[in-house]
Amino acid sequence: MKITIGSDHGAVELKEEVKKVLAEFEGVEVKDVGTFGTDSVDYPDIAEKVCADVTSGQSDRGIVLCGTGIGISIAANKINGIRCALCHDVFSAKKSREHNDANVLAMGGRVIGFGPASEIVRAWMTTDFEGGRHERRVNKIMALEKK
Ligand code: RB5
Repeated sequence: MKITIGSDHGAVELKEEVKKVLAEFEGVEVKDVGTFGTDSVDYPDIAEKVCADVTSGQSDRGIVLCGTGIGISIAANKINGIRCALCHDVFSAKKSREHNDANVLAMGGRVIGFGPASEIVRAWMTTDFEGGRHERRVNKIMALEKK
């Protein structure tokens, strides 16, 4: 599985921690689109880079991080084909995969500690979409893009 990850300056340290967690998974290839320092950058630009890889099929899923996770998740969800879930607990992370087939995970580096964030990533990486009635609902979400 290929994962593209990106953060603004508000979550650079969290990005490094998330990459360590992703390295636990055999066969997972990670592409980091930055940012790589503490200089201020605009989170919509990072969301755009990560999501471009997901919608083009270059990556299977994406992880986007900013100070709160809010701005970057809003930006990601503006992009056709993206279902970005802002998760700061394991239950939501699991459900975002089982029920929503989330293809992008968002978290906030100024909101959550490394330990809980690592558990969220592990849960999100290992949980499959349930399909069934959820597929109908996800299809309805995606149809909203055309209205
Ligand atoms: C950047 O200062 C901050 O606004 C950003 O990281 C994020 O929290 C926005 O939602």
